[in-house]
Amino acid sequence: MSTTPTLRPPGNDKGAFVREMFADIAPRYDAANRVLTAGLDERWRKRAIALLAPPHGGRILDLCCGTGDVVFHLLRTDPSLELTGIDFCEPMLAGARARAPREARGRATFLEGDVMALPFEDASFDGATMGFSLRNVVDIDQVLREVRRVLRPGARFVNLDVSKAPNPLFKRAFDLYFYGLVPLIGGIVGGSKRAYTYLPNSLTHHPNADALRERFERAGFAQSGYVRLMGGSIAIHYGTNP
Ligand SMILES: C[S@@+](CC[C@H](N)C(=O)[O-])C[C@H]1O[C@@H](n2cnc3c(N)ncnc32)[C@H](O)[C@@H]1O
Repeated sequence: MSTTPTLRPPGNDKGAFVREMFADIAPRYDAANRVLTAGLDERWRKRAIALLAPPHGGRILDLCCGTGDVVFHLLRTDPSLELTGIDFCEPMLAGARARAPREARGRATFLEGDVMALPFEDASFDGATMGFSLRNVVDIDQVLREVRRVLRPGARFVNLDVSKAPNPLFKRAFDLYFYGLVPLIGGIVGGSKRAYTYLPNSLTHHPNADALRERFERAGFAQSGYVRLMGGSIAIHYGTNP
């Protein structure tokens, strides 16, 4: 049963609100994703992984791993990789851990933790990914600094997320879908209309694609850039730890 009525609007403690919201939708998160994106999210994830170009046998960190979609995609691309997924929502991690024996075969570890303060040594990963999550963190710049800290020199970070489409017509059509239909469909398939109302709204105050690339630069990433998909309503940002 959904616990939707217990959800609070984001107040001072955005982190606690986000954690509670994902705990609420965790059991149906994967199914809702497939329906809401008509399965296209699988393609976007593959594109993000191609941009990461992880080194064979490398150690890769997936931030805000949720139920593990990016982690399992990475392992399907290259089974030699060693994956660590981190997320602060236990019920989402439970979904990832349930899938792991079938999809990871001992190559993935899922840890509970906050991406604002990563529990890893400096320069300990050969690459990092993040899927559909940067909008939800309290402080984007702090997360970007933390990602850079744990990456080895020359390692890349790739961030896949919804974005603000630059074309006004396209933006209008996308907004109708995102702010109108997503809460309705999310309510039915995902089990929480309130959560699927918050999720699109988290884009409203998120930087547009150019501004986010600047934040990558400000955090010290080199060769930063982004790729637009779906008319710019999806963007994949990347940067390299110099
Ligand atoms: C929309 S889901 C994305 C899950 C997964 N990356 C995917 O692509 O399907 C967002 C995830 O970010 C996690 N999250 C949000 N803020 C976090 C933080 N500060 N630290 C760790 N996890 C966080 C949530 O618990 C949730 O599992």
